[in-house]
Formats: sequence, structure tokens, C-alpha cells
Amino acid sequence: MTELSEPVAFPQDRTCPYHPPTGYDPLRTARPLTRIALYDGRPAWLVTGHALARELLADPRLSTDRTRADFPAVTPRFAAARDRKVALLGVDDPEHRTQRRMMISSFTLKRATALRPRIQRIVDGLLDAVIAQGPPAELVSAFALPVPSMVICELLGVPYADHEFFEEQSRRLLRGPTAADTQDAREHLETYLGALLDSKLKDPGDGLLDELVREQVREGAPDRDELISMAVILLVAGHETTANMISLGTYTLLRHPERLAELRADPALLPAAVEELMRMLSIADGLLRVAVEDVEAAGTTIRAGDGVVFSTSVINRDADVYPAPDSLDWHRPARHHVAFGFGIHQCLGQNLARAELEIALSTLLDRLPTLRLAAPPDRIPFKPGDTIQGMLELPVTW
Ligand code: HEM
Repeated sequence: MTELSEPVAFPQDRTCPYHPPTGYDPLRTARPLTRIALYDGRPAWLVTGHALARELLADPRLSTDRTRADFPAVTPRFAAARDRKVALLGVDDPEHRTQRRMMISSFTLKRATALRPRIQRIVDGLLDAVIAQGPPAELVSAFALPVPSMVICELLGVPYADHEFFEEQSRRLLRGPTAADTQDAREHLETYLGALLDSKLKDPGDGLLDELVREQVREGAPDRDELISMAVILLVAGHETTANMISLGTYTLLRHPERLAELRADPALLPAAVEELMRMLSIADGLLRVAVEDVEAAGTTIRAGDGVVFSTSVINRDADVYPAPDSLDWHRPARHHVAFGFGIHQCLGQNLARAELEIALSTLLDRLPTLRLAAPPDRIPFKPGDTIQGMLELPVTW
């Protein structure tokens, strides 16, 4: 454990959208564990070392139950939502295992591979429209957001016609201006998905939500509220995160012309490039846990009730694991990054996300060989540090 003279504030806004905030520099030398100050002044542990992160993310003595009074809050928005039980991500075993089992078959590698032709058609259709209307184009709204939104709608059995509604509620849920706004967005999503689940009970289709509704009648199955909570996390996590990776991934490639040229020259590098972009961008930066028992780590004791935060952007730049961690390198083994988390809560949608990213990025580069930014890079707005990282807009031309 490395004691800093003054605990660094967490989270902070990035100064460049694909690097950790410069304010985290002291944290990057304080491996594998240090102290930080949360927005409300509360101290918490920050895990910064790669090996320790994987050890602690797999440790059942660290809980993800957000309804616990001592669970760390990183924003007032988050603190205000603490009385709500979040499915999957907010429950510990054995309840977590039961919930995850119900949906795992929809997210296997086999299932993601089977979805590839459908994802390709969605990507092609959107790019046809971008090309027909441009140049220029605003790539977040025309491409990065609709790709994962359409894919998750098909997978879950949510009508894409409602996308403006649920994209707007997800945006308010993750980065609404006030805690009340966040609460209101969650309620809107819950009401919408509750009604959708009820209608599926009467008239089932073949999406994952339809399957979950069918489970509901079995003994010991989750009740309606639990199902709604599962539907919310699947819908929100299923489109926001991947949309951010597509927009920020594209921006990062356009800011690294040599790496981009290398990728265009050898498309077989694409899966490795996706992993390296995941590592470098670490868009979900700040995974949260609370210790429910004392845990010995890095020569110190994390006490029961202490908040523990994992900065994926700092962990994924641990120079002991990733030499020259600030540079993009398609040839390094990046796959053991923690950008999808680790342990029992490791991202359920990672196979799907990888398939979407590979298809979206490769098709974009193929179809628009002269793609470039249509504004000075430092004028293009990106998201604040207390939410999932990504571009707010991505003006491009070709
Ligand atoms: C590139 C895009 C994505 C990134 C960076 C990402 C990141 C993450 C991370 C870091 C976690 C673990 C959080 C923690 O341990 O506190 C997670 C969990 C989760 N993700 Fe993703 N995710 C992505 C795409 C998706 C997609 C497409 C889905 C589809 C539904 C999804 C659904 C989930 C769910 C349900 C969980 C909770 C799993 C559990 O608790 O068992 N994610 N994700």
C-alpha cells in the first residue's frame, strides 16, 4: 500500500478522452493500493495494481450491494439512487448466481458469433444512410449509438421504435444534471419495461425478455420487480457502453494515424486492436465495492465497511503488466485488461460487445477510407469523468 501525502480526489474529468485524468498521475505511482477522497469527503481505498485488482475483484468479502449504508458513492446522483436494488451488478452470491444463470445462454461466445451476420446488416444499413447523407456526419447519433441500440433491442425483444425514449432515459440515468433527474429517469424506464414485460406475458415473442417472463411462472423465479430491474440493466448496459467504445474508439484511431494505417494494412489485427482499445480507453473507470469483512491486502487491512474503488484506467496502465502503457500497440497481449471487470460480475455482454466493436470499426474503416475528424480534436466534446467515458459528439468527414 502506498500512502500519498494527500488523498487524490476521485473521480476527476479526463483531460484527453483516451488517457486517465492528469489529476490521477500520483495514483499511477501509488501501486497497488492507495487512499482517495470521494466527492463527499469520505475516504476510500483505490486499487491501482493489476494483480491486486484481479485478486480483490474475485474476493467474495467485497460486496456490490449498493443498498448497504456503507457502500461508497462517487456522485450525489449515485448516492440518491442507493435505496434501489440493482439486479446482477448490485447483488452478491448466491442471489447473483441465480440471476446470472437465467441469462448466460443469451450471451455466450456461440450466441455472439451467431449474431454477427445480423450485426453486420445493421452496421451496413446505418453506414449506407451516413454515406447517402454526407459528408460530413455526426457519428455518435448516426452510427455509434444506433448500432448497439438496435442490436440489444433485437436480443431483448424491445421495440427499436421506442429508442429515442429509452436512450434519453439512459442518458439521464447515467449523467442527469440532478439526483432527482436520475431517479425520474429510472422510474420512467421501470414503468416502460414493466408494461413491456406484462404485454409479453400475454403475447410472447422470442427475445431474452420473453424468455425471462416465461421463467417468472416457475417456482422460486424472480418476481416482477426483479425482472424489471434485470431488464433495465440489460437495456442500459447493452447500448450505452458499446456506443461509447465505438465513438471513443473511432476518435482514438483517428488521433493515431500510424496505428490506423497499420490496422488498415492488416485487418487480421482487428481482434487484438479491439482489446488494446478496451485497455487504453477503460471507459468504465471506477468499479465500486464495500468490504463486508476485514481483508488483508498489500500489507495493510481493508476494514469491514471500507469502500473500495477500482480505477480501470489506472489498473490497465500498470507498467509491470503493460510496458509503455500510454501507447497503443496492437502487438501486445492486452486481453487480460480489466476493462470488462473481473470475477463474478465480469461483463455479461463482453462477447457481444467484442463482436459489435469488431464489425462496427472494421466496416467503418473499410467503407470510408478517407475518414477524418471534421473539427479540431480539442474542440470535440467528450463525457465527464463521473460517468462512462465516451464522446458527446463526433463530427467527421471523408
Ligand atoms: C464495450 C462495452 C462494455 C463495457 C466496457 C462494459 C463494462 C462492464 C464492466 C466493467 C462490468 C463490471 C462492473 C463491476 O464489476 O462493477 C460490466 C458488467 C456488466 N455488463 Fe458490461 N460492458 C460493455 C458492454 C455490455 C453489453 C453489450 C451488455 C449487454 C447486455 C453488458 C451488460 C453487462 C451486465 C448485465 C453486467 C453485470 C454483470 C454481473 O453483475 O454479473 N455490458 N460491464
